[in-house]
Amino acid sequence: MVRKIGILTGGGDCPGLNAVIRGVVKSSIIRRGWEVVGIRDGFDGLLYNNRIVPLGLNEVRGILPRGGTILGTSNRGNPFSYPVEVNGKIVLTDVSDEVVANIKKQGIDALVAVGGDGSLKIALELMNKGIPVVGVPKTIDNDLMETDVTFGYNTALETATDALDKLHSTAESHHRVMIMEVMGRYAGWIALESGISGGADVILIPEIPYDISTVCRAVDERRRRGSAFSIIVVAEGAFPRGGSRVVQKRADETNTIERLGGVGQYVARQLGDCLDMDVRVMVLGHLQRGGSPSTFDRCLGSRFGVAAVELIEQEQYGRMVCLRGRDIKSVSIERAVRKLKLVNPGGQMVTAAEELGIVVGRR
Ligand code: F6P
Repeated sequence: MVRKIGILTGGGDCPGLNAVIRGVVKSSIIRRGWEVVGIRDGFDGLLYNNRIVPLGLNEVRGILPRGGTILGTSNRGNPFSYPVEVNGKIVLTDVSDEVVANIKKQGIDALVAVGGDGSLKIALELMNKGIPVVGVPKTIDNDLMETDVTFGYNTALETATDALDKLHSTAESHHRVMIMEVMGRYAGWIALESGISGGADVILIPEIPYDISTVCRAVDERRRRGSAFSIIVVAEGAFPRGGSRVVQKRADETNTIERLGGVGQYVARQLGDCLDMDVRVMVLGHLQRGGSPSTFDRCLGSRFGVAAVELIEQEQYGRMVCLRGRDIKSVSIERAVRKLKLVNPGGQMVTAAEELGIVVGRR
């Protein structure tokens, strides 16, 4: 019999997290009479009692339109590889036994982990240590397998498309090439879908290593045809054929994931060598993660929250809620995290872009 559930949000924040939290709290309390506690700052919060707080209906009132997460999050703090200072040196230590003991001490019967592939992998490891866990797929990158879409992605797309609309007018007025760098890590979903929706001329994604001479030719041909400006969308994980990704900060003992960024400037420098045009770079950055969730993400987040509670009620632990078509289903977390969901370079979305005359950097 479940009486008390815990919820945490892990990894980078994204719009719609509060809708999930609210969905979990409302359906647990109103429909089932369960108690809910929120764990602050992702898995980090499980190490400290004072970071586990009661979540009642008052706490979730009015949060649906709010971006971010009322619980806070962290994309560090993996309890299986936690940075601990030993004799002045940082040593990655497995503190998961403490986390498990703390969950039990708090009387938490089941845990809802809202996160991307990194957080869900941690959730799976906790599950293997006997903690009943269910997952909710979150990320603006949309790179999680087994769900048609993750919540947060739609809002990020809206932000990126809106930015492209705005870039168009200034690019056209100044006869410039505008490069917009977007997030997405190793997947090109945000770049591809916002690029199509925002009328980009060139879209560069990690799944198709680009050829800079193709990009130069495309911009030059447009100019000769009378369009003296071009819009290029480049995913942060994109890289030239035979080259490598631009990394801002490598992974180390305190930062377990590498930080991407800078490929926009890199492409600008490459274009400078083959084009005689004014080029500017705009990095959309964390704007993509902020702001009020779109209608789609509010609804999807709310439905995911409710479905996570249903999974707990049915004791379907180790599973993640997902969207298939218009229906909410579930899948094992293990299947969802086994690899990243990347753009298919020969798939419909890329083909549609090319049919529209968008250059994707193929040779
Ligand atoms: O995974 C979400 C994401 O926004 C990626 O698109 C991006 O590479 C990364 O997080 C940025 O993380 P941080 O907030 O640590 O800069």
